[in-house]
Amino acid sequence: MTNSIRYFVGNWKMFGVPSSYRIIEKIHHYLNKDKKNNKKYKIVIAPPFTLLQEFSKKFKNKKISISAQNCHHKDNFGAQTGHVSPLMIKSLGVKYIILGHSENRMSGENDEVIKLKVELALKNNFKVIFCIGENKTEKRKNKTIYVLKKQLHNVLKKKLNSKNLIIAYEPVWSIGTGKLPTRAELINTTRQIKSNLDKIFKNNIPPVLYGGSVDSNNISFFKDIKAIDGFLIGGASKSSKNFIDIIKNFYK
Ligand code: 13P
Repeated sequence: MTNSIRYFVGNWKMFGVPSSYRIIEKIHHYLNKDKKNNKKYKIVIAPPFTLLQEFSKKFKNKKISISAQNCHHKDNFGAQTGHVSPLMIKSLGVKYIILGHSENRMSGENDEVIKLKVELALKNNFKVIFCIGENKTEKRKNKTIYVLKKQLHNVLKKKLNSKNLIIAYEPVWSIGTGKLPTRAELINTTRQIKSNLDKIFKNNIPPVLYGGSVDSNNISFFKDIKAIDGFLIGGASKSSKNFIDIIKNFYK
């Protein structure tokens, strides 16, 4: 199943100060002006924890949604220095959360921990953007499909509310490198991801986004790969012009 709404999600990672809300404001301005296409897509921006409260207040009731980039795997309050729980983030009015990002997997998050996070985030009514992706070695060894299948099945279970789930396929070797999968690879991987999701959820398959070096110059490459339901954008989401150009070029 291909979802008709496309997602453009900006992951700011470790970027942004209070005045960076202007970037989102400009994107929001464009979104409002883009009468021809703005019903076809949804914009979500994920600033760091430090900006969540202010930005979710500023963009409350606006068409752009604010996302967190991670959370702790235990809920409520606890003795976890430096961490924040899903409940704490939810209390700020934040709607989305990115979980399982490869940069967090690299600093020690495993499927077991990510599973707890996904369950807790869904319980707190977040829309969860769950990231999966193979690294360079796994790709070289032709393990891509195996790795993705394992990441999906280790974390996602039938009982979860798939309506609040979004999958982001981010090949680790593509993040920040300018390298993209080939068209054939992308079509095949997306098909395999959706077929695994179909096995888990039957009819309610979550949308599948692509992430990794997406920018305004290469976005047209993805245009006719209909199975991709949107994009998770890192570097190019930190500038309003780059982000807007991605959307402009996608619908050109
Ligand atoms: P880049 O777009 O900078 O490659 O980052 C992708 C990413 O990791 C988004 O979560």
